[in-house]
Amino acid sequence: MPHPALPPQLAAAVPFLWHNPACQASAAALRALPYGKADIDAAIARWQRFAPLLAHCFADSVAADGRIDSPLLQQDGGVLVKADHALPVTACIKARGGVYEVLCQAEALALAAGLLPAGTGYEVLAGDAARALFARHTILVGSTGNLGYSVGVMARALGLQVEVHMSSDAKAWKKDRLRALGARVVEHAGDYASAVSSARTLAASDPLAYFIDDESSLLLFFGYAAAAHDLKAQLDAAGQRPTPARPLRVYLPCGVGGAPGGVAFGLKCLYGDAVQIVFVEPVASPCFLLRLASGDDALSVYDIGLDNRTLADGLAVPRASATVAGLVQHLVDAVVTVSDDSLLAEVRRQWQQHALRLEPSAAAGFVAHQLAASSWAQDVIPVVWTTGGNGLPDEVFLPLLAG
Ligand SMILES: Cc1ncc(COP(=O)(O)O)c(C=O)c1O
Repeated sequence: MPHPALPPQLAAAVPFLWHNPACQASAAALRALPYGKADIDAAIARWQRFAPLLAHCFADSVAADGRIDSPLLQQDGGVLVKADHALPVTACIKARGGVYEVLCQAEALALAAGLLPAGTGYEVLAGDAARALFARHTILVGSTGNLGYSVGVMARALGLQVEVHMSSDAKAWKKDRLRALGARVVEHAGDYASAVSSARTLAASDPLAYFIDDESSLLLFFGYAAAAHDLKAQLDAAGQRPTPARPLRVYLPCGVGGAPGGVAFGLKCLYGDAVQIVFVEPVASPCFLLRLASGDDALSVYDIGLDNRTLADGLAVPRASATVAGLVQHLVDAVVTVSDDSLLAEVRRQWQQHALRLEPSAAAGFVAHQLAASSWAQDVIPVVWTTGGNGLPDEVFLPLLAG
């Protein structure tokens, strides 16, 4: 049934820029939230505790300092690119949350088993005693692909069992890649939301199982939020000092909302009104826009006649995270919807002109920036977050370039 408050472009699947009327001055919006800087600082401290272990587990891809971060690139027209398509270990933004929550659980298990007495370095978690402990435990997750991979890589590196629930139409190569890690992949006839719900139910009945909830985990959220500090350090080093008169405008591809929501929260905590947050969604799956415009947590894109079918598989989510929407509804400045054709064209352009290997989801920020540049002109520092792609095998990436 149509909803009176909804912009007509939404159900018509027409790309457009939507300004969030509920966006507030950041100080007021943040003050009303039960979480804040301390939660992000705790996440940063945990990343630091684990840095030596990460450097040990992923010696080929993670630098000696053990930080999982991506470069900040510059393109023509002053566009900055936060290049998470090249993030070490998993080549996607979901690692910032998924790897982080596996670390949280590993730390909790190890502390409970007495493996981390005060002063112990976290490299001990790569040792035999920890591996024997972890091998008895299973992490479950429901995913469109990239969260499952991020969780799978980290969990398997520590010797945890992992079971990833995915919709049957999730990309086959993403399932194969998980199986190659030793993860169990469970396919569901339904969509991403039903895969998440099955994993949640199964985990609830197994005392040795831990469920990573893409739809409502605060640990994922704070793991993503810590990325804001990585970006700020790079902007500081580049001499970029945003102000409310010349703010950062950050374009974030949005699926269920966790990754962009966490980053948005982190950035607003750091920059206040000197940052504008723009979520970007496919025209077939604008679940976050739908939630913000309707205020209705239960509404899905199917309810307004959309089919949730998009090339941007990481963003093919029918219903936004109610948890994340509740936290960031007053912090998101705008949402842009984009067509699959424009994503494909941008994947090609980024490869040809800048040698960036992006999956369609990850090209969304560029398309949104082009749309906003004409209809929302303002002196801003544009930052496009490229959220995944370097992991695409040739047999998947090259066909995207053809035609
Ligand atoms: C490449 C890519 N970009 C963006 C996102 C969006 O993240 P979220 O679903 O947390 O909104 C995803 C989600 O899987 C993704 O795979």
